Amino acid sequence: MEKNDQSNEMKRRDFLRAGAMVAASALFLPLSGTKVFGALSATQAKKSIPAVKLNNGLQMPMLGFGTNTLGGEVAERCVADAISVGYRLIDTAHIYGNEEAVGVGIKKSGITRKELFVTSKLWVDFAGYESTKKAYQTSLDKLGLEYLDLYIIHRPRGDVKGSWKAMEELYEAGKIRAIGVSNFDPDQLAELMKYAKIKPVINQIETHVFFQEHDSYKDLKKASVQMEAWSPFAAGRNNIFSNPTLAAIGKKHNKSIAQVCLRWHFQRGVVAIPRSTQKSHMTENLIIFDFELDKSDMETIATLDLNKTQFPEWT
Ligand SMILES: NC(=O)c1ccc[n+]([C@@H]2O[C@H](COP(=O)([O-])OP(=O)(O)OC[C@H]3O[C@@H](n4cnc5c(N)ncnc54)[C@H](OP(=O)(O)O)[C@@H]3O)[C@@H](O)[C@H]2O)c1
Repeated sequence: MEKNDQSNEMKRRDFLRAGAMVAASALFLPLSGTKVFGALSATQAKKSIPAVKLNNGLQMPMLGFGTNTLGGEVAERCVADAISVGYRLIDTAHIYGNEEAVGVGIKKSGITRKELFVTSKLWVDFAGYESTKKAYQTSLDKLGLEYLDLYIIHRPRGDVKGSWKAMEELYEAGKIRAIGVSNFDPDQLAELMKYAKIKPVINQIETHVFFQEHDSYKDLKKASVQMEAWSPFAAGRNNIFSNPTLAAIGKKHNKSIAQVCLRWHFQRGVVAIPRSTQKSHMTENLIIFDFELDKSDMETIATLDLNKTQFPEWT
């Protein structure tokens, strides 16, 4: 191994080790049986979020905070609120136009960088080797951060191969702790795997009770690529928050529809990143580790699958 490679490898190992320490502090501490929404202390919430070990050894919280559509001061406040109630995984993207505001929210929260897991995404306009490297630096500058925990290709468009090579190099140089993809179907993922020196750790895709994505689910499990759910509530579409089947399951467990949905993602082993502008919802969405959906609940939820996107305008 060349000297530079060795030092890069050491930097990378330090990164991974730091991540494991964060995750160890975040690993299970069951809540004391509380089933009321609302007052959950930041300490309880933080300790209650389990972590998953990605295929490169990095630990990632199973539940995070999404920021699509949040901008300016709203994004700043929501990110700071989310961190204050216990979220440690924050998901943003160049195309959301809010990386600067997310960065301000992180600063406002007063949390130390190493306690967080921050994701951003490479937009399609920057596909290609050189432009990916530049876009990554621009995201860092906007966020005011020195590294990202996870950087992902937002959509499989343009020169994906060039982008992946650039991301592999950034990863190997210790500048990103993990690299992944988003919105890749099984064929697109298989294509990437043909030339990837480094396997993606994650595929962030649309999945929720109305679009359960069984093929991708099986495929990703087989490939040891973590599935992450975007729009875990289908962004409220198809009247998810008044669905009678989900309401009945919630009633049985003294939980809200939102909590049933997030628990369902968690029991499938899928990372979810719900968005909310309301602190009470942010807190409610964290209280999902003190109950369990049983086999019949899971079978009932399986029947809600419509097997189609709720966002046809994006395909
Ligand atoms: N990779 C991609 O292509 C992609 C695409 C889309 C999204 N994403 C990521 O995934 C994240 C989540 O998806 P999303 O933002 O589309 O939507 P979502 O998280 O599925 O749903 C957000 C909606 O749910 C409501 N909500 C949240 N908690 C609630 C609760 N406890 N009770 C009732 N309503 C509740 C929110 O309203 P309130 O504000 O009133 O709480 C908001 O209207 C995004 O923010 C983004 O980070 C990625």
